Amino acid sequence: MACLFRRTIAAKVHVGIWQNFSFISFVHIFKYSFRRQTPDFKLLVSLLRLNGILPITEDIQLQTEDLTRQLKPDTVVEDISAGSGAVNFTINRKLLIQKMLEPFESESNTTFGLNSELLNTLKRGVTLVEYSSPNIAKKFHAGHLRSTIIGNFIANLKQALGNNVVRMNYLGDWGMQFGLLGAGFIRFGSHSKLKNNPLQHLFEVYVQVNREAEHNENLRQEARDFFRKLEEHDAEAVSLWQRFRDITVEEYQHVYKRLGVHFDVYSGESLHQSQALEVVQQLQSRGLLKTSDKGTGVVDLSSSGDMSNVCTVLRSDGTTLYITRDIAAAVDRKERYHFTEMIYVTDKSQANHFQQLFQILSASGHPWSESCRHVPFGLVKGMKTRTGEVVFLEDVLDEARTRMLHNMSRAQSKHPETSTKELEDPEDTAEKVGIGALIVQDFKGPLLSDYSFDWDRILQAQGDTGVFLQYTHARLCSLLQKNEDLEAAHFDASLLTEPSAISIVQHLLRYDEVLLQCSQDLQPKHLVNFLLKLCHLIAAAHRELPVKGSPVQVAQTRRRLFRGSCSVLANGMRLLGITPVHKM
Ligand code: ARG
Repeated sequence: MACLFRRTIAAKVHVGIWQNFSFISFVHIFKYSFRRQTPDFKLLVSLLRLNGILPITEDIQLQTEDLTRQLKPDTVVEDISAGSGAVNFTINRKLLIQKMLEPFESESNTTFGLNSELLNTLKRGVTLVEYSSPNIAKKFHAGHLRSTIIGNFIANLKQALGNNVVRMNYLGDWGMQFGLLGAGFIRFGSHSKLKNNPLQHLFEVYVQVNREAEHNENLRQEARDFFRKLEEHDAEAVSLWQRFRDITVEEYQHVYKRLGVHFDVYSGESLHQSQALEVVQQLQSRGLLKTSDKGTGVVDLSSSGDMSNVCTVLRSDGTTLYITRDIAAAVDRKERYHFTEMIYVTDKSQANHFQQLFQILSASGHPWSESCRHVPFGLVKGMKTRTGEVVFLEDVLDEARTRMLHNMSRAQSKHPETSTKELEDPEDTAEKVGIGALIVQDFKGPLLSDYSFDWDRILQAQGDTGVFLQYTHARLCSLLQKNEDLEAAHFDASLLTEPSAISIVQHLLRYDEVLLQCSQDLQPKHLVNFLLKLCHLIAAAHRELPVKGSPVQVAQTRRRLFRGSCSVLANGMRLLGITPVHKM
C-alpha cells in the first residue's frame, strides 16, 4: 500500500497477496476486534493521529524501528516488522474473513457498514436537500432529470448516514410567465385537455402564447393584467393558477414514483412572494440595498464596495426576482426545519446565482449561510427519444423502458435459456434496468462534466453500465436461490483462500470508506465505481469459485461470500436510486 505517513514514518500493510490495501481499510479491520482499549490499540490510535485520520492531541515523533518494537502482534495482526521507512503489518486473514462475513447471516443485511466507527465520526443533523425543481408549463429538460437523480442520491446517502432528511422540490411556479400562461389559457386553453393530459396541454398553451405574444400587444397586456391579478390575490386568477399547480404536482408525483423518487415538501417560488418584499425591506434597513442607475434595487457584492459586482434584488417596477425569492425561501426554511445543512442541486449555470445567494445571506446576518451548499452539475447533450426532443420526464422513462425491453427480447432469442417469459412483469423489469442504466451513466464521472447521451451505449449489458450491475445482482440472486439448501449459520473462513475470494472480501471492506468519500464531496462516482469493480470481481468469482458440486463446507462458505456481495451490491444500488431486480 502507499506511503501512510506523510512526514517521518511510512507504514505498509502486507496482507499476504493483498495489494493496494488502503489505510482506512486497515483501520476498518482493526475496528472489528480492537474495541477493547489495549495498549497496542492506544499506540495505533496515536499513529492514526499522526496520519491525520484522528485529531492530534499530542504529537509523537517515532522512528520506524521504535514503532515496530512497540507494536505487539496479536490475534488480529499476526506479524509486524520494520521495512525501510515502513512498518509492515500482516493481518490474520482468517479472522478478517470471519469478521467480514459474519454480518451476513440473515438473508439481507441492509445496514452493513453504516454504523462503522469511520462513519460514526460524521456529524449528524437535519439535512435539507432541494432537487428536481422543474418549472410549471415549461419543458422538463435533461438538467431537471439530473437534478432529480443526483438530489435523490444525496438525500438517500444522508439518510443512510443517520441524518434527518427533508426532501424538497422547489417549483418554478411564479413570475411573469404565469401571466402569459393565464392569459393564454383563457384564450386557447381547454379544461378537458387540461384534465386528460395536463403537462402536455399546459406546455402547448405556453408555447402558443409565447409565439403569439411576440406580435400581439393586446395579448401582452392581458398577460400583464393576469399577473398583476395574481399578485393582488384575485380569487379567480389564483384559482386558475392553483389548478395549474395542483395538476402539475399530481402528474409529477406519478412519474417520480416510476423513478423511485419522492419529496416531503413541494415548495415553490410562489410561496415566498410576499416574504421576498420583506427581504428587500430588511436589506434596506441593514443599509445593504442600493439603487442602480437603471432604478433597480441592488446589493453591492464587490469587495471594494465600488458597485463593480452587484446583484439585482428588486426591479424598477417594485417586483421581486428569482434571487429575492430564494433569499426569502432560505430564511423561511431555516426557521421551519432548523436544518444543519442545506444542499441545492442544479446545473452549473446557476453557480453564480447560489454564490450570490449565500453571500447576501451572510451579509444579512445569517451565519448559517456557511452550511448551505450548491452541488452543480454539467450539461447533457443529445438526450433524444425516437420521436424527437425530450419534453417531459415521462418521455425519457418510456424510452428507457421500451429500448430495454427490446434488448431483453433480443438477448432472449439469442439465449433462449434466459427466458424473459419467466419474468412476472417484463415491462417493470425493463423499466428498473433502464433507469439504473441512466443513473449509472450519469453518476460515473465527476458531476461537473458535460456528457453526450447515447442510448445504445448506456444500455449495453457488458462494460461499466447499470445493466451490468442489475445483471450481476440478478445472477447472484439466482445463485443464492438455487443453493438455498446450503444456507448455514456457520461457515469456515479458512476455506476461502483463492485470490478471487480474497479480493472480494478486501473490496467489501472499503464500503464505508467509499460512503465517507461520497458524503464529503457529494459525488456519487465513488460508489458507482466501487460497485462496478465489485461486479467485475464477482464475475471472476463466479468462474473460479463454483458453489454447486464443491464439498459442502466449501460450498457453504462460498455461498456466504456471494450473499455478502449481493447484499452490499443491493444496498449500494439503492443508495444510488436504483431498484435491484431479482431476475432479468
Ligand atoms: N426552477 C429552477 C430551474 O428550473 C431551479 C430552481 C433551483 N432552486 C433554487 N432554489 N433556485 O432553473
